Amino acid sequence: MQQGLFESHIESLPLIHRGKVRDLYAMGQDHLLIVTTDRLSAFDVVMPRAIPGKGLVLSELTAFWMQRFESRIPNHFAGADLDLARYLRPDELAQCAGRGVAVRKLRALPVEAVARGYLIGSGWKDYQATGAVCGVALPTGLPLAGKLPEPIFTPAFKAPKGEHDANISFAEVERLVGPQVAAQVRDITLSLYREASDYAATRGIIIADTKFEFGLDEHGRLHLIDEVLTPDSSRFWPAAGYRPGISPPSFDKQYVRDYLETLDWNKTAPGPQLPDDVVEKTSEKYREAQRLLIG
Ligand SMILES: Nc1ncnc2c1ncn2[C@@H]1O[C@H](COP(=O)(O)OP(=O)(O)O)[C@@H](O)[C@H]1O
Ligand SMILES: [Mg+2]
Repeated sequence: MQQGLFESHIESLPLIHRGKVRDLYAMGQDHLLIVTTDRLSAFDVVMPRAIPGKGLVLSELTAFWMQRFESRIPNHFAGADLDLARYLRPDELAQCAGRGVAVRKLRALPVEAVARGYLIGSGWKDYQATGAVCGVALPTGLPLAGKLPEPIFTPAFKAPKGEHDANISFAEVERLVGPQVAAQVRDITLSLYREASDYAATRGIIIADTKFEFGLDEHGRLHLIDEVLTPDSSRFWPAAGYRPGISPPSFDKQYVRDYLETLDWNKTAPGPQLPDDVVEKTSEKYREAQRLLIG
């Protein structure tokens, strides 16, 4: 089996951050090189083995959606004039094939902009406990994985490294970024979610929920950044297998999560080694999501 790219090694540019999945390098003052690796995190812990091809899938899906939304919201792509070949050695350029992009360095908002159309995950837990999700009141009696009457905006605070993101209310978003930007983030999040859901429905996929990130440029203009509508940032369900009341299988890390649940592992770093078949099946799941959505 192929190894996949666990970590990029680029010496020609200063490394400024290794996220759970992406390595960020400075390209001068105003730009970043983002390399989407094949790292996989589960329960917020990075697994020690890469999932071959995962970073390529995330990169291609993100580029697809960012271009599709371009007339609605600007994105962080720097464009073709920032030629990576001028900055990198050939071996470094090779690491970037299909996964390295030059982007504008923007002021990232400390908010994960989540849109939900279905009751699952932390939303379901919140609903069971409070009858609401992130303070958004919902009708009683909705089942697990049930479709919501309307998609809802359920933001989270982007936690510093090593901490879990925490759901917050809209009022807290207003305090963090100001009421104007908060309203803009909410409206565009819901509108992009609707548009993507309509598109995905034509491909037999339900987008149960998704997370966007936004950044501001020097003029305070809102831009779409990071990753967009990938299996890491979204729950994709095959529409054919969907039934309210059961947790649908999805195109994400379910194989890994299911495997991890069989272990006596306390969900803190370091993560356990994943067996070959789990790595292979997960890699195939990512490629399948790409094929079904944009293939
Ligand atoms: N254009 C951009 N300008 C500034 N920061 C960005 C931009 N695009 C993405 N980021 C940030 O880069 C990081 C991407 O790395 P990732 O591995 O996804 O990190 P995390 O572990 O925080 O999810 C995120 O913190 C994201 O907010
Ligand atoms: Mg991320």
